[in-house]
Amino acid sequence: MKRIYIEEISQHKGEEVEIRGWVYNKRSSGKVRFLLVRDGTGLVQTTIFSQVKDHPLFQKFDELTQESSVIVQGQVIEDQRAPGGYEIMVRDLQIIHLAQNYPITPKDHSIPFLMNHRHLWLRSRKQQAILQVRWEIIRAIRDFFDGRNFRLIDAPILTPSACEGTTTLFETQYFDQKAYLSQSGQLYMEAAAMAFGKVYCFGPTFRAEKSKTRRHLIEFWMVEPEVAFATLEDIILIAEDLILFILERVLSRRRVELEILERDPSPLEKITRPFIRLTYEETVRILQSKGSKMAYGDDFGAPEETLLSQIYDQPVCITHFPAKIKAFYMQPDEKNPDLALGVDVMAPEGYGEIIGGGQRIHDLNLLEKRLAEFNLPREAYEWYLDLRRYGSVPHAGFGLGLERTVAWICKLKHIREAIPFPRLLYRIYP
Ligand code: 4AD
Ligand code: MG
Repeated sequence: MKRIYIEEISQHKGEEVEIRGWVYNKRSSGKVRFLLVRDGTGLVQTTIFSQVKDHPLFQKFDELTQESSVIVQGQVIEDQRAPGGYEIMVRDLQIIHLAQNYPITPKDHSIPFLMNHRHLWLRSRKQQAILQVRWEIIRAIRDFFDGRNFRLIDAPILTPSACEGTTTLFETQYFDQKAYLSQSGQLYMEAAAMAFGKVYCFGPTFRAEKSKTRRHLIEFWMVEPEVAFATLEDIILIAEDLILFILERVLSRRRVELEILERDPSPLEKITRPFIRLTYEETVRILQSKGSKMAYGDDFGAPEETLLSQIYDQPVCITHFPAKIKAFYMQPDEKNPDLALGVDVMAPEGYGEIIGGGQRIHDLNLLEKRLAEFNLPREAYEWYLDLRRYGSVPHAGFGLGLERTVAWICKLKHIREAIPFPRLLYRIYP
């Protein structure tokens, strides 16, 4: 008997196969029993048919509960009426374990309840669809950079210094020293870019975000490319390419999942290059004209991001921010040094910022000055200053937040469902 996964079923028409999985649902009508089995790759209807009322397979069927584990053997039959277009005519059914009172029943449950049962919630159809899209996006990101010969250089997680502002630093003890969980691999990618030319890292990052929003996680994944001899403009083109590559992949390979999520793909299909380009100043003026109360010098909040996406149905690249509201490492604009050559890419449909990046300071004196202005301890950044002492070149990069991207593409209400085990303010269980 050939053991197969449900996603391969169409290649086994007419064959006797074995499926190993869990009971998703069951129903009976007259002489037929339908057992819906999931195995992580899909869902299949398995059918038991008998004229005999107390057929041994019927007895086993009656015992089965939601999420019990089973091995089913039978013949693959094409049937348009079955979900997925195929069913298995059961010849044998083996119960591996009977689940008792599985807590997530088909009725509606509250979010706190589901979050407390995240370890089981992962088995639900929608959660499976989201995490399969996430996996596809991860593969697309890797293929994108590997395909362009970017070297994957892993950044450390335990670090001695801040990258993105000291207010969200996650402090921890490193023997007799203080250390921080990495907020971003960027500083290390700058070193790597000077060693390898074009590089990326892709891993978990941490921010002690004290605010409870639907787009902030405490632990999230970020992909961070960094390119030597690159400018702000160069890196924006890479960001555009990356987003279009991800969209094309998901739209071509994960249609079924988007359908399960009831995600209308048409807004995603409409996205083309070039993305909308606006300076920070232009953006503020546009938002003010649409009723926003924000002033020049403010950061964009959720209301501004929502407003922006009501105006544009394409991603918006915002550049030339006031240097004051951006990180210490941002290269100033030649024409107006009060402006930073940073870029934020805003996703459409109200999802807000998915990418933050820009061109980095390559001049030693200027960088030293900035560290002092930002009150950052110089000793911890000596190695970073070295990059400006030995063959310094203009360079640029960005970070794309994986969960923000998943939330947008799947059109989720909250980012917590975009990661298998979310870490949120007030939640580290399970
Ligand atoms: O804009 P950010 O803070 O930029 C950086 O960290 C740069 N050092 C990256 C670089 O240039 N290499 O963060 C980048 C992206 C954001 O646009 C957002 O998508 C995501 O990371 N992000 C978060 N996602 C979920 N939860 C949070 N708390 C996030 N903070 C940032
Ligand atoms: Mg940002």
